Amino acid sequence: MSANRTIDGITACVFDAYGTLFDVNSAVGKHRHRLGDSADQVSILWRTKQLEYTWLRSLMGRHADFWQVTGDALDFAFDMHGISDPDLHKDLMAAYLDLDCYAEVHETLATLKDRGLRLAILSNGTPAMLDAAVKNAGIEALIEKNFSVEDVGIFKPDFRVYQMAVDGLHARPEEIVFQSSNAWDASGASAFGFKVAWVNRFGQSRERLPGQPDAEIQTLADLPTLLTSA
Ligand code: LAC
Repeated sequence: MSANRTIDGITACVFDAYGTLFDVNSAVGKHRHRLGDSADQVSILWRTKQLEYTWLRSLMGRHADFWQVTGDALDFAFDMHGISDPDLHKDLMAAYLDLDCYAEVHETLATLKDRGLRLAILSNGTPAMLDAAVKNAGIEALIEKNFSVEDVGIFKPDFRVYQMAVDGLHARPEEIVFQSSNAWDASGASAFGFKVAWVNRFGQSRERLPGQPDAEIQTLADLPTLLTSA
């Protein structure tokens, strides 16, 4: 992608959680030795199914919270790989509450906060999952609010989810810059009306969906220079 233009008039930065601030693969990473050669495949399938179940449940109108969906997706991944190990299931789920955050996260959030920007998380995660992840990553002093889809009972990219940040921060959508490494989430947030920086950590192709990010960055470390305040 060509050089980004600055994103102007921003008062708040809202972050996706999983994959953007927190490394979802670090759960399997902590128990890699117990999964042997299938570790990476299990991690990928776990995440893929987790997201599919959020979209499918939203389409069916059968919401279940992200903790259940995450457990169901892990069941599926275990099944596909012929793994039957309740203790490992339990330990991987516990690891989801204590994910590593990406290396640049602390410093970037601190820089943005020092500039007077408001910082929040907007995620599929349950309030309990987000509280634990934020606390365990040591970023709770930097984050003003966690917005959880549990308040609206449907997953991203339903626009009611993005609207929570508008209502909760009392900001106009165009004053909010939303960061996600999930390209489909970046598209959804842009279609909703946020300014969007897509954190393309994994070198993915852009989505062919409504809504295009205003900027594409490799890591969150590229964010502060991209923004000018309101
Ligand atoms: C979230 C998922 C999409 O945190 O990563 O909402």
